[in-house]
Amino acid sequence: MVNRSRAEARRVHVITHGCQMNEYDTHTVLSELVAGGHQVVDTPADADLIILNTCAVRGKPVEKVVTMLGEFRKQKLAGRDLTVGMMGCLAQLDEGQEIARKFGVDILVGPGAITDILNAVDMVAENQQPYWSLDFKSELHEHLTPAPDTLTGFLTIMRGCNHNCTYCIVPQTRGPEVSRSLESILHEARAMQRSGVQEIYLLGQNVNSYGLGRSDLPSFAELLRHVADTGIPRVKFTTSHPMNFTSDVIDAMAEHENICKYIHLPVQSGSDRVLRRMAREYRRERYLEIITEIKAKVPDVVLSTDIIVGFPGETEEDFSATLSLYEEVEYDSAYMFMYSARPGTPSYKHFDDLPREVKTERLQRLIERQKGWSHRKNHRHVGRELRVLIKESATDAQYVVGHSDQNHTVLVPRSQVGEMGLYTVTVDTATPHTLYGTVSGYAAQRVPLMMAS
Ligand code: 5AD
Ligand code: SF4
Repeated sequence: MVNRSRAEARRVHVITHGCQMNEYDTHTVLSELVAGGHQVVDTPADADLIILNTCAVRGKPVEKVVTMLGEFRKQKLAGRDLTVGMMGCLAQLDEGQEIARKFGVDILVGPGAITDILNAVDMVAENQQPYWSLDFKSELHEHLTPAPDTLTGFLTIMRGCNHNCTYCIVPQTRGPEVSRSLESILHEARAMQRSGVQEIYLLGQNVNSYGLGRSDLPSFAELLRHVADTGIPRVKFTTSHPMNFTSDVIDAMAEHENICKYIHLPVQSGSDRVLRRMAREYRRERYLEIITEIKAKVPDVVLSTDIIVGFPGETEEDFSATLSLYEEVEYDSAYMFMYSARPGTPSYKHFDDLPREVKTERLQRLIERQKGWSHRKNHRHVGRELRVLIKESATDAQYVVGHSDQNHTVLVPRSQVGEMGLYTVTVDTATPHTLYGTVSGYAAQRVPLMMAS
């Protein structure tokens, strides 16, 4: 580490792994650093402060962090002037702190301490010593993050999780549930609207628990209505727990044109025996009841889910129950994971992991089946007109890519789009994961993209 004075500006780059909550936290940290006079750079190579925003839900993202930290340590030993920071879920765990020690990480801030980042940078510069902060700071819940200069704005409405599913490390990394005040959420929503954001994504580990047990806060359904009433073209939310998914959320969705008809409702398994061992508090029948109510009140709704394959003790019969649940629900898409035994979770401690071959084979089978289902569901949209928020260049440079109101990935030829924004698109062809279309119109008023004051 080079000796620096407290006020010296740094060139900072944050590498974000994991979920959208991490993306929101990255934006918060970058906003803080910019407000403190530091400069954001586009690539790690241009930075003298690199922060890894980490994920700890499965083993793979942890391995990625170890590889990157190893590389940074090598570069520092070779003389590169570099301060390395670590934030996100892994930072909160003993496992992450051991890794941080091993690789000489300079700054470590847990998910509840991200507002400490400016102080951390200053302290490290001043003392030439690592700075760690792992507190859950209550000020974070009222902290106002400036609007991003992007078309989609992530907005965290609650943090933490009270569910304690046996496979999941999140309750330990992000602590118990805390909801933000309605005022601070609406303040951020309005700032986003002023700055040209076209889609607000309300985020939380379990958004449906918003306001639970707090007489001073509205329910999640009421909050959804408030955000929709700002008039922002699109409101989406994730993630929902079936246990807390109430009818009034479905009603709010049915009543408000701008609440997107898309629901991500993680089921994790179709087998009651597995759900019990996972400590998921609902059973298959209850989950299907919710799906039936959603489909009745919101025709043409798009549904997605999370599934864990190969949970300890999962039999072929349990796995078949997951496959048959898929057939019943007809998900449009699914995030499918192979069970990863995470140190510190109850299932790691109490259950034996299944052989890797069994887990891999089941995951492959599920992915194959899902591909067929997704293709069929996507195919229904061919010939239809969808509203698509086109945001960026696709990997194939001939196309630009965006998402429909219902979260389909949609590609259109670059030549048809002058500027990024909301378009109407007629779908020409469908693959299991992507729709290809032709622009038929501009769907929104042109809103200048500028930072909110
Ligand atoms: N192994 C595999 N998948 C997991 N998830 C959470 N913990 C684990 C684990 N130990 C998945 C769940 C959750 C999603 C965010 O990650 O499906 O909904
Ligand atoms: Fe983890 Fe379960 Fe909480 Fe989701 S609901 S964050 S899977 S403990």
